[in-house]
Amino acid sequence: MSTINPLLTLNNGVQLPALGYGVFQTPPEQTRAVVEEALRVGYRHIDTAAAYGNEREVGEAVRRSGLDRSEVFLETKIWVTDYGYDQTLHAFDKSAAKLGVDTIDLLLLHQPMPPQFDLTLAAYRALETLLEQGRVRAIGVSNTMPEVLDRLLAETTVVPAVNQIEVHPYFQQRALQQVHARHGILTQAWSPIGGITVYGGGERSAFEDPTLTEIAARHDATPAQVMLAWHRQQGRSAIPKSVTPARIAENFASLAVTLSDEELTRIDALETGHRGGPDPASITQTTFDIQIPEA
Ligand SMILES: NC(=O)c1ccc[n+]([C@@H]2O[C@H](COP(=O)([O-])OP(=O)(O)OC[C@H]3O[C@@H](n4cnc5c(N)ncnc54)[C@H](OP(=O)(O)O)[C@@H]3O)[C@@H](O)[C@H]2O)c1
Repeated sequence: MSTINPLLTLNNGVQLPALGYGVFQTPPEQTRAVVEEALRVGYRHIDTAAAYGNEREVGEAVRRSGLDRSEVFLETKIWVTDYGYDQTLHAFDKSAAKLGVDTIDLLLLHQPMPPQFDLTLAAYRALETLLEQGRVRAIGVSNTMPEVLDRLLAETTVVPAVNQIEVHPYFQQRALQQVHARHGILTQAWSPIGGITVYGGGERSAFEDPTLTEIAARHDATPAQVMLAWHRQQGRSAIPKSVTPARIAENFASLAVTLSDEELTRIDALETGHRGGPDPASITQTTFDIQIPEA
């Protein structure tokens, strides 16, 4: 069985494995063991965030894995309460210290704050500085809609390498993905297997979708594997989360699943137009009650 994880090349030449492993909602006390398991299974790309409260344990797992630091692509995100030029430079120090690394491979702004755009802009300028100083290898954004992306592109110099956004069969953000393609921004899918359709209290679970289960049966695969093949074959990075060893392996084994064009088109047709996550247009520093502690 082939499990080649294709390398995607960012707009500054840095490469990352398309299929990564996410740790949103993974409790810190569980994080080290599950990240170690993911690395054992073959993942070489981990997505965390300051706001997830588990950067320290992600770093510990990488060190305990026996892999060289250069073999694992580490991605994390600056939380909104740390936006502002100096604050964001300091937020890098906090994340790097918790992860126990000198260099972060990909650093994102977790959310734009359209109502506080000046702070978002200052935070992005700090990312540009960190990139110039070689403390991060690539920079990007998350949950950033076209209007905000346009403003950012107009007022900064480095085009984000990545926009990490909600993408699963029920909410695909095709127009935004086209904007990314025009600017050379990689689309990275969060909730790539529709986790938000389950824990977000959605009306129906993507894991039970009849089209996905039917396609999965044809390939002797699972709906999660079908969704991950769909992302990979359409050129997206995906970062599924699981704390369940069998699912960690199952999701990685999606690399052996290849769908037909007709199947890809049928999955495209599952779009519902309903966002599972919060509306990124209205987020400010007080929307969530999260503060990022010092390292
Ligand atoms: N930038 C952002 O704002 C943002 C927002 C959300 C997520 N993210 C990132 O994206 C990552 C993934 O997104 P997500 O965690 O929201 O959703 P997801 O990866 O689509 O789904 C995770 C959920 O699906 C379950 N699951 C995993 N594999 C499965 C399988 N093979 N079969 C059935 N169920 C399975 C998991 O349960 P168990 O863990 O119990 O196995 C968990 O409840 C996050 O961990 C995070 O790194 C970013």
